[in-house]
This record gives sequence, structure tokens and C-alpha cells, in this order.
Amino acid sequence: MIDVIGQVRSKVEQVVPIDLLVRGAHVYNRARRVVDARERPPIFPETRIPDGAEISLAEIDTSNPFLYRQGQWLTHFKRLRDESPVHFQKESPFGPFWSVTRYEDILAMDKNHHVFSAEPYIIIGKPPAGFDIKMFIAMDPPQHDVQRSAVQGVVAPKNLKQMEQLIRSRVQEVLDELPVGEPFNWVDRVSIELTGRMLATLLDYPYDDRRELTKISDLTSGIPGATGGTSDLDETFSAAVPLLRKVMHLWDEKKARIEAGETPGFDLISLMLSDENTKNMNHRPMEFLGNWILLVVGGNDTTRNSMSGGVYALNKFPDEFAKLKANPKLIPNMVSEIIRWQTPLAYMARRAKEDTVLRGQQIKKGDKLIMWYASANRDERHFENPDQLVIDRPNARNHIAFGFGVHRCMGNRLAEMQLRILWEELLDRFEDIEVLEEPEIVQSTFVRGYSKLMVKLTRKQ
Ligand code: HEM
Repeated sequence: MIDVIGQVRSKVEQVVPIDLLVRGAHVYNRARRVVDARERPPIFPETRIPDGAEISLAEIDTSNPFLYRQGQWLTHFKRLRDESPVHFQKESPFGPFWSVTRYEDILAMDKNHHVFSAEPYIIIGKPPAGFDIKMFIAMDPPQHDVQRSAVQGVVAPKNLKQMEQLIRSRVQEVLDELPVGEPFNWVDRVSIELTGRMLATLLDYPYDDRRELTKISDLTSGIPGATGGTSDLDETFSAAVPLLRKVMHLWDEKKARIEAGETPGFDLISLMLSDENTKNMNHRPMEFLGNWILLVVGGNDTTRNSMSGGVYALNKFPDEFAKLKANPKLIPNMVSEIIRWQTPLAYMARRAKEDTVLRGQQIKKGDKLIMWYASANRDERHFENPDQLVIDRPNARNHIAFGFGVHRCMGNRLAEMQLRILWEELLDRFEDIEVLEEPEIVQSTFVRGYSKLMVKLTRKQ
């Protein structure tokens, strides 16, 4: 029966334009929200979260989207790592789940996709009804491998080399336009701007419209029932419709140009058009959309929040900032250390494919497990003084913020390159980047991010 429904759906998807499909999904979603209380977005009132040492293990709630904003995640995860490293939480707005918090256990899980599946979702909750897009980050091999190999050329070393000069010139442009000696929001002027420019390049998206990419990414990653964020579902669906129409138009245009003899570029659509497995993906629009959105969301929150996190961390640890200024050769290692310290994506979710045992705990087939990368990267069993930023930390590159195994981040080299270039150009121009007040942290269980970071620059003499 499911197969029949699946076949009918895929036939429908082949003939109905993608924007109409999403409009239809929106109508369906609204109807479901009316008839089914479980489809209504959960509401998260913010209350004060106590220090992890003051409460019982049973009271620890790692699904609380304010844990990061209130800074209590450090004490809560430390309790779990020390006393209950594979910890069952029976109740949460996202249902029951296991929290896995030690580095070693997460590494073992991430390597074992035969037992720990990335399907159906890698988030703690679930996407809204109707928002049924297929992304390879949430597929197991072999399907995962086919789709990943079709698009990974976009961040292949050859492409990155071609992109490096372009990325550098865009970083220079953004930095040269910054006000010196007066307060401004680093998140908006630098982190969002640079990430938007990079994504527009990867996707060959109209450059002047790059903030549309940021917007859809923020809306998607902030869906309340999925990640505990604050996105409005109607706004999310409505924003998707014109954007998708535009992307499909870009596909058709590019296809026509390539057929007319134009050399394919290094952007996502050109690569998909050049691969046997994906060249007709416009006929599988929900799958195309999944791959497209995966690059947008994957490349957005992550790199952006590492750009903000680095500035914040170097202000919290001024000796490290001084060390950096004295020795800019430390930049590549520092980039890894910033990514470890920030860990922009707090976790990935898995489902047990069979009954199994993890650190003595009986895991049942179908159980949801959350691999808390944010905790693993602060595991004192693996990193000395883990809460400190140490820019020459010898094992900084061992961080697990990019995950591990078959799903290890596809964009890791690109992200590192962007951050390296940013810091090279910053050190060339500015003597200091002073953080003026505590940053505003986004509400999410998933994204460890900043919405506001006020800074002041001092120019180099
Ligand atoms: C997967 C983190 C930048 C594209 C992932 C995963 C993590 C991650 C944790 C899942 C790993 C797993 O399940 O084992 C990060 C961080 C970044 C970053 C911390 C920056 C500091 C980027 C960029 C792109 C990107 C710039 C592309 C433009 C992807 C894709 C996947 C992925 C496509 C799916 C890989 C797969 O399932 O095979 N990333 N990411 N990421 N990332 Fe990133």
C-alpha cells in the first residue's frame, strides 16, 4: 500500500510544478494543524534553568531550547557525561530519546550506520506535515552514497582552489566596508553577509538576492516542532514558494545554456546536470529541493556561527588573541579550535535499527538517540581544559563538530577555508575587534548560534 502511495506521489511530483507542490503541502499542513493537536507547533516559554549541579539527573532536559542561551548547557552536559553518559529522557516536547554525551561513544555510533540510522530525520523533532523533502544527510547507504557523490564535486579540492580567490576578494570587500571605531552588529555585517555570498557562489544564485538564501535557511532550521526554534510555519511555506519557482527556473535556464554549448560551471545545478544520476532531478523536485536546501542550511548556520563564535571566544580569552597576533601562522589550527569550541550544530539524531547495548544501556529497535557533539567537544576525557579556547591545542583537529563516518560534513574544507581567509584578512587590517556586550543567542536545541554580537574595530597602524 505504502509503495502504491509512494508511486502515485512520485508521478504527481513529476508533473506538478514545484511551487504548486509546496502550496499544496502548505494547505495540507494548515488542515493538519486544525485537526491534529500533535501537528501544532509546540510553545516554549522561557524559564530560568538552574545549574546542572543543583538538580537531579531526572530533571535534566537536554531538549530545552534555552539551554544554550542561558549558558547552562555546560553544567548539564557535564553531569550527564560524568554520571549518566547514555541517558534516557522519557518525556520532552519531541518525545522520548537517549542523550549520548561522551566523545568516545558518539564516535562509535557515528561510525556504525548499520545499527544507528540517520533515517528518517537527523533532528530531535520532526518536520511539519507536508514538508516532506528528502535530504541525503537523513538517508542511509547505499542511497546516501549515490546522492552525496553526485553533488560533492561542488566542494571538491579543485573547485575550492578555483573558489579561493573569489572568496578572498569577497571577504576583502566586506571588511573594507566596515565602520571603524563605532559599534556594529558583527553577525549581520560580517557573518551573514559572507556566508550569503559564499552560498550564492556555490548555487550560482542571483548575487543581489543572496539574503533570500539566509532567510529560507533561518526559517527552515528554526521550525519549532523540529528544533525548538521560533519560525512561523505559514511564513516558512510562503517564503519557499517564490524561491523554488526561481530555483527551478535557474535549472531550466542553465540546462538550455549548457545544451547550447556553454561550459558547465562548478555550481550545484551544473554538477547535477552533468551527472547521470541527477541530470533529471528536476523531475524529482522534492529530492532536488532536499539537496539544494541541504547545501543552503548546511552551509549557513554553521559557518556563520563559527565566524561569530571565533570573535566572541577570542574576546573571552584575550591571551589567545595576543598569541594569535604574535603568530598568525596559528590560524589554521585556531580555525579547528574555534569550530570545536563553538560546535555550531549541537547534535545529530539517529534511530536504532536493532536492539543493542551502548555503554551498558539497553537500546531498543526504533529508539531515538541524540549524539550531542556540543558535549563531546567539551569532554574532558578527550580535551584538556575543554571549556577554554586554546588556539594551539595539539588535538584541536580531532573535534567532532563535523560529525564522523559516512555523513561527515561535506563542506568541512570549504568552511575551514572561509574561516582561514577571514582571519588572515582581519589580522591584516585590524589591531582589535572588541566585543562590547554579551551576544544574543538563538533559541534552538540544534543550532548553537548568535543573532547579535556588537563589536568595535580598531584599525592597524
Ligand atoms: C553534514 C557540521 C559547514 C554541507 C554535516 C554534519 C555536521 C556538519 C555535524 C553531519 C555529520 C554526521 O551526521 O556525522 C558543519 C559545520 C560546519 C559545516 C560545523 C562549519 C563550521 C558546511 C558547509 C557546507 C556543508 C559550508 C556546504 C556548503 C554539509 C552537507 C552535509 C553536512 C551536504 C551532509 C553530509 C552527508 O550526509 O553525507 N555538517 N558543517 N556543511 N554538511 Fe556541514
